[in-house]
Amino acid sequence: MLLKWNAQLYDQQHDFVAAYGKGLLTFIPQQPNQAILDLGCGTGGLTAQLTQLGHRVLGIDSSASMIAEAKQSHPTAEYQVQNALEMTYQNEWDVVFSNAVFHWISNHQLLMNQIARALKPNGVLVCEFGAAGNIATIEHGFDAALQRVGGRYQSRFNFATAETFGNEVERAGMTIEQVETYDRPTPLKGGEAGLANWARQFFASDLARYNDQQQTEILTIMADNVRSTLWDGQQWVADYRRLRCVAHR
Ligand SMILES: C[S@@+](CC[C@H](N)C(=O)[O-])C[C@H]1O[C@@H](n2cnc3c(N)ncnc32)[C@H](O)[C@@H]1O
Repeated sequence: MLLKWNAQLYDQQHDFVAAYGKGLLTFIPQQPNQAILDLGCGTGGLTAQLTQLGHRVLGIDSSASMIAEAKQSHPTAEYQVQNALEMTYQNEWDVVFSNAVFHWISNHQLLMNQIARALKPNGVLVCEFGAAGNIATIEHGFDAALQRVGGRYQSRFNFATAETFGNEVERAGMTIEQVETYDRPTPLKGGEAGLANWARQFFASDLARYNDQQQTEILTIMADNVRSTLWDGQQWVADYRRLRCVAHR
């Protein structure tokens, strides 16, 4: 599925994605001389931190604009434009790390097969992404707003349950160390405008079908629809739910 990423907007407004990802770094084994692949590295904030943990660190991302921004902002790591579903690595990485990426990829079984093949024997997958139920309130509010202008929302996300994802990891031949889901209410930057800014990034292709005036109307209706649940009086708090998994080959 294609989403045109706005790398600057991502860094200015949505840097919380990488900030939360820092916690995930603690699951990476502390071994000297590790080769680490950051799958879906985005603008490279976490990839740069991974260079403290490995001797070879490569960030790959299918978005050329994200990779261009990463090369400029975090030049300590190496980067390549690459689709994870088409990577050809075999027995090459000690760690495959991935934060906030897998829900963008519809075929998790193919992805897990690719990762299992890319890992060295005993290599580790450390990943976190949106779990089943992630942003359910926002998606419902957005769908209801689209219906008011004659549209419908079709979620493009693959938010998995721990059971389904765990089965796919095991079918790819990996052994699960942990797989769990948890609620992570996530404050959005920008005060009143925070939810609309978020939607302009993450629902960009849904909004692109409408003109500017309609987009503003849709986003206003959406905010009204979810205000009683997600506005805490000072900021929007998105109803994020995450799936975290650590597994080895
Ligand atoms: C929300 S961003 C997360 C970026 C970064 N990992 C972070 O924590 O800030 C999701 C990234 O996944 C990338 N992505 C989505 N599908 C991909 C695929 N099939 N192969 C490689 N990257 C992909 C997107 O281009 C985007 O940069």
